Amino acid sequence: MSESRVPSRRRYLVCEPRHFAVSYAINPWMHPDRPVDVDLARGQWAELIRAYRAHGHDVDTVEPVADLPDMVFAANSALVLEGRVFGSLFHAPERRPESLAYETWFKEAGYTVHRPESVCEGEGDLVPAGRWVLAGTGFRTTREAHREVQEFFGVPVISLQLVDPWFYHLDTALFVLDEPDGGNHANIAYYPEAFSPGSREVLARLYPDAVLATREDALAFGLNSVSDGRHVFISSGAEELAARLAARGYLPVPVDLSEFHKAGGGIKCCTQEIR
Ligand code: ARG
Repeated sequence: MSESRVPSRRRYLVCEPRHFAVSYAINPWMHPDRPVDVDLARGQWAELIRAYRAHGHDVDTVEPVADLPDMVFAANSALVLEGRVFGSLFHAPERRPESLAYETWFKEAGYTVHRPESVCEGEGDLVPAGRWVLAGTGFRTTREAHREVQEFFGVPVISLQLVDPWFYHLDTALFVLDEPDGGNHANIAYYPEAFSPGSREVLARLYPDAVLATREDALAFGLNSVSDGRHVFISSGAEELAARLAARGYLPVPVDLSEFHKAGGGIKCCTQEIR
């Protein structure tokens, strides 16, 4: 079943992990008493950026701010669709100042930023999938924000209930593989048990052909992946999922971001897509 998949060129916004650390705990992965190897983290992050560029993607960087150790997780800063920017409002007070740092970057790049009224953590919980946006709630982004996103973009938003604290953001439990046919039939990969029974049923109806991941691969951040339609930049620990993707004609590009797992983040968390 090895169809040939066509990549499309993407633009990513990232933030160098110069000030990366685990200094507070806002998800079950984070243990401030466990040391983080910042040099190793910087090397791993540089490998990810190299991999994006080697596959033809554009990468922009936002200047990291001291005392914002999670700012490296660029995905949480916004959702950008057709050049329109829906900004962020973080659940944790520790992360709130990040919104302004990213807003400044977007403004300098010529974008207008909409400030959400209720908690909304950007692409962490908002995943554009062709004709609609899949939206997670339960731990961070609120249902009120889902409504605000739908109103702002005029794109249908499908709310999904997350139930497992290890998968506190939608992008830790699900990613979009491709958007062929102008996005009409985007397919996804996901870990069903991260969702409530009703949301699981919604996903099964919308995506009968989805690639399903095991708990082991999900815990290895295998679903925190970035796909360009052909290459899937995927956690090197998610071997079974990589094999399942390869069997569907995708080309897994393994990248190891293990130091970032200590903060509860992986490849996708470090990547904001500018659409
Ligand atoms: N420590 C960060 C937090 O808990 C990690 C964010 C990961 N980002 C993501 N898009 N899932 O907020």
